[in-house]
Amino acid sequence: MTESKVGHDVLRAASILQHGGIVAVPTETVYGLGALARDQNAVARIFEAKNRPTDHPLIVHVASVDAAREWSSEWPAVAELLTTKFWPGPLTIIVRRAAFVSDQVTGGQDTVALRVPDHPMTLELLNLVGDGVAAPSANRFGHVSPTSAQHVVDDLGDRVDYVLDGGPCHVGLESTIVDCTVDPPRVLRPGGVTSELIHAIVDQGDQTTSTVRAPGMLASHYAPMCRLHLLEADHAVDSIDVSSRTRQLDASGDPIRFARDMYSLMRRADEDGVEDLYVRMPAPVGIGVAIRDRLTKAAHRDAGNETEKSG
Ligand code: TXA
Ligand code: MG
Repeated sequence: MTESKVGHDVLRAASILQHGGIVAVPTETVYGLGALARDQNAVARIFEAKNRPTDHPLIVHVASVDAAREWSSEWPAVAELLTTKFWPGPLTIIVRRAAFVSDQVTGGQDTVALRVPDHPMTLELLNLVGDGVAAPSANRFGHVSPTSAQHVVDDLGDRVDYVLDGGPCHVGLESTIVDCTVDPPRVLRPGGVTSELIHAIVDQGDQTTSTVRAPGMLASHYAPMCRLHLLEADHAVDSIDVSSRTRQLDASGDPIRFARDMYSLMRRADEDGVEDLYVRMPAPVGIGVAIRDRLTKAAHRDAGNETEKSG
C-alpha cells in the first residue's frame, strides 16, 4: 500500500503509536485501546488509562496470518484452519508465544492472544506500523465496551492520545476467543464467530473444562450502572413493573442487530437515569450465545460480585 492513499487520520494514528503513544482504534467488534506491543512504556500506559490490573493479558492485533505466526512459537494445524477461514474477523486465537513477547502482554503466561481485526482503517494502520498492536477494549475497567468513538471519549477522555474514528462497530460484541494450545481447541469467550461456525471446521471441546486463565470470563464484566433483569422468551411482560425508571429491551427478535446495538443501549439507559433494565434474552444459538454470556456477566454485579471485574 502506498502512503498517499492512506487517510490523514490513519497516518496521524500511526505516527502517535510509533512515538510511544496510545490510540483508540476501531474494529468490527468494539473499539480497542492500542499501543505497539513491543513498547513496554506504551503498553504500561494502556493499563494505567483503563485502571486495568497488570496481570490481565492483552490481545495482539496484527495485519495478517503471516504476521500472527511471527508472534507464536507453535502454529497448530487448527490455528491455520481457523485463521485462514475467519481472519480478518471477530476471532482471537491463543497460541504458544514467541520468545520476544513480553510478560506484560501475556500476563506472564507462555501463550499469546492474536487477532486480525476486520476494519479497513485499522488494517491500514497495522500495515503502516508494520508490527503488532496490543489492544484491550477501550473502556474503563469493568465498564461496557465502547462501540463508537464517542463512547471512548466519554469513558477515557484525555487519557488517550488520539481516537481514530472509524464509525460504529458492526458486530458490537468482543471477539470469540479460541484456545488452540489444547486438543480439541476450546472456546474461552463466545462472540461473533459462533460455535456453530467453528464446529463446522474443527472438532471443539467443552469450554467449561479449560484451565487457561482468561479474566474476561469472570463474573461482573461489561456492566452498566442500572440493575439488569434477564427474562427468558416465555416470561409474561405484564409481570414487569413499568415506571419512568424502568426500560425494556428485546434481544430475542433480531439477535445480530441487538448485538450490534447492545452496549449503546446499556449506555443510553444509564444516561437516561434508568434504574431497572429488563432484557428479553435471545435463544442460545448463533450470536445469541455471546449475547447471553455478556448479559449474564453484566447482571452478576447485582448478585454482589463487585470485586470480580474484568475488562
Ligand atoms: O474484540 C475484541 O477482542 C476486542 C477488540 C479491541 O479486539 N478486544 C478485547 O480485549 O475484548 P479485552 O482485553 O477486553 O479482552 C481480551 C480477553 C481478556 O479476557 C483476556 O484475559 C483474554 O482476552 N486473553 C488475552 N491473552 C490471553 C491468553 N494468553 N490466554 C488466555 N486469555 C487471554
Ligand atoms: Mg474488555
